[in-house]
Amino acid sequence: MTNKVTAVTPGKEGFSLKDRVAIVTGAGAGLGRSYAIALAARGAKVLVNDLGSALDGVGGDTSPADMVVAEILAHGGQAAANYTSVASADGGEEIVNHAISEFGGVDIVVNNAGNMRLSSFAKLDVRTISDVLDVHLGGAFYVTKPAYLVMMEQKRGRIIFTTSGLGVFGIYGADVYAAAKGGIGGLLTVLALEGERHGIRVNGVAPMARTRMSGDDLYSALPDEYVGAEHAAPVVEYFAADECAVNGEVWSVGAGSVSRLFSARTKGYFKHPGTQGQVTAEDLAAHLAEISDVTAFSQPANWLAEWDEVVQMFQSQ
Ligand SMILES: NC(=O)c1ccc[n+]([C@@H]2O[C@H](COP(=O)([O-])OP(=O)(O)OC[C@H]3O[C@@H](n4cnc5c(N)ncnc54)[C@H](O)[C@@H]3O)[C@@H](O)[C@H]2O)c1
Repeated sequence: MTNKVTAVTPGKEGFSLKDRVAIVTGAGAGLGRSYAIALAARGAKVLVNDLGSALDGVGGDTSPADMVVAEILAHGGQAAANYTSVASADGGEEIVNHAISEFGGVDIVVNNAGNMRLSSFAKLDVRTISDVLDVHLGGAFYVTKPAYLVMMEQKRGRIIFTTSGLGVFGIYGADVYAAAKGGIGGLLTVLALEGERHGIRVNGVAPMARTRMSGDDLYSALPDEYVGAEHAAPVVEYFAADECAVNGEVWSVGAGSVSRLFSARTKGYFKHPGTQGQVTAEDLAAHLAEISDVTAFSQPANWLAEWDEVVQMFQSQ
């Protein structure tokens, strides 16, 4: 499995992350490794967190994080290893405190750590529910919470969550994984609204890259060199930069393609309950095309704005 190293040259031209402290979770391999290397290349001091577990989340090994740190240091970057699991509140605190004691603060958090267990819903082992949710969704809360408090204080920060096209569009056998990634989507939407007034930007990356997690077959339609994790890193670099101009967005990235994934509300069907009577189930069957028609849609800025659209329709008729 290939995973090319982008050049680790602190001071890479363009957006600079000099003097910024970044935490990248699950950075001992795959996508996290690429992100850690890319952020270090822009001058960030990087806490390389990785439990070193197997794909299913079991076990632990310090060598993946150590190897990434060695790689960054060998190229003149700054990095330190952390082996704590993201899957508990204490773990999250420990990771953030480590970044503060090692590098003096925290400016960027990349929540990337993840495990994977696939099974059809009928065969789902209930232990899998908590084991997967705890790492992806729990970990996103546990690491971000203590970092967010530091960022609020300093009135500056960048939080990056990892979602997945699987969480939006689905795939057979990934129900818990998709639920975790979908949950992260909700968390990032709300945190982006809350963080904005504190100078904190919150965005999500939905990567597509050949890693241990994807296995060899998923991306076999394209040559290895175009589906490596390094092709996803620029989105994380951009979201981490002061220059990042977006907030609350999720960008899908891989093999040269970058797209925004978004939630929207169709124009839909409206029947005025005052003048036309209450909507019935039969009305819905008769107006299916209007309800589902995605050619006209809106993107309310928050839930209150969604409700306001309904109020506007009501009042304008
Ligand atoms: N590869 C893809 O195409 C793809 C697609 C969508 C989303 N993702 C997401 O990207 C992230 C990275 O995945 P990857 O493909 O690089 O997988 P990977 O298995 O190569 O890397 C995941 C890393 O997370 C670490 N990890 C697992 N549990 C941990 C824990 N509790 N605490 C700390 N570290 C832990 C592992 O040790 C591993 O090094 C995951 O969140 C994954 O769900 C990947």
